[in-house]
Amino acid sequence: MFKCQDFNYAVFGNPINHTQSPIIHKYFSVQTNILHTYQAVYVPLDSLYSFLSFFFKNNGVGANITAPFKKEAYFFCNKLTEQAKIAQSVNTLKKLKNQDILGDNTDGIGLLSDLIRLNFIKKKYSILILGAGGAVQGILFALLSFGCSIFILNRTVLNAEKIVTQFQKYGNIQVLKKNELKIKYFDLVINARSKISETNNDIIPLSLLCLKKTHFYDINYQKNNTKFIDWCISIGAHFVSNGIGMLAFQAAHAFFLWHNVMPKIHYIIDILRKTYSVEKKRV
Ligand SMILES: NC(=O)c1ccc[n+]([C@@H]2O[C@H](COP(=O)([O-])OP(=O)(O)OC[C@H]3O[C@@H](n4cnc5c(N)ncnc54)[C@H](OP(=O)(O)O)[C@@H]3O)[C@@H](O)[C@H]2O)c1
Repeated sequence: MFKCQDFNYAVFGNPINHTQSPIIHKYFSVQTNILHTYQAVYVPLDSLYSFLSFFFKNNGVGANITAPFKKEAYFFCNKLTEQAKIAQSVNTLKKLKNQDILGDNTDGIGLLSDLIRLNFIKKKYSILILGAGGAVQGILFALLSFGCSIFILNRTVLNAEKIVTQFQKYGNIQVLKKNELKIKYFDLVINARSKISETNNDIIPLSLLCLKKTHFYDINYQKNNTKFIDWCISIGAHFVSNGIGMLAFQAAHAFFLWHNVMPKIHYIIDILRKTYSVEKKRV
């Protein structure tokens, strides 16, 4: 098991070395004068429950969950916020005074806030989402409630179908079947797949995109461009961003759940963008 005497907040994932959450939460802590110590914890694939149980029995008060554990974390919680119930996926946990573990999902509000900041989204936009994992479950309700139409394209079609069944009562959502497509182009393409070094982008038919108008958002981020961002640039896309802003916004909402204080985030986005800068708007 891991040692957690020195911290009371943590992010759990596999892999975890890429995470910027400890830096963001340190910044929030200093900015708000709320003392919390936050670390990244690598979790073997079969060990999420034992790690979380150990953490919350010891010093743990709040946790973030990243890939691939968001769906599993949902079942660990014995209380859920409305958005976590709808998502059936959890990225933030909080130990309550009665020892219950409350699960929330801040990915949806995090992504939507960043898309609005970038001016990448409008009501009625037609959005292509690549992927159908825990992160997609977290973002769909926010995008559908905003009034967008969603098409899901995923390596495993069955997973895309399951997600469409789960969310169709909240708005216009369908699995992308290339030969059945009737729309001209997508306003926004969101890459929400993991294994960012392995994913293939040639699955996206260029005829469905308008490179001067379509917005491209990779919810992933890394110091160099992700493979998806490189692909967007190579096809001549005008509006491209990685997911560093989403990370900052979802972290701010997690911080709010834990401490009831909303930190200011634009300054931290500016800091992170110096290292993870892919926001391109060629008008
Ligand atoms: N910026 C942020 O704040 C933020 C927030 C949340 C998540 N993320 C990032 O988003 C990514 C997805 O997270 P998640 O929780 O949804 O992960 P997940 O639950 O493990 O889902 C992974 C998804 O990626 C697809 N996939 C995996 N390997 C692939 C490959 N080689 N080729 C094509 N598709 C592949 C999977 O398809 P199958 O269904 O076919 O397996 C599935 O749709 C992670 O990298 C995570 O770090 C970023």
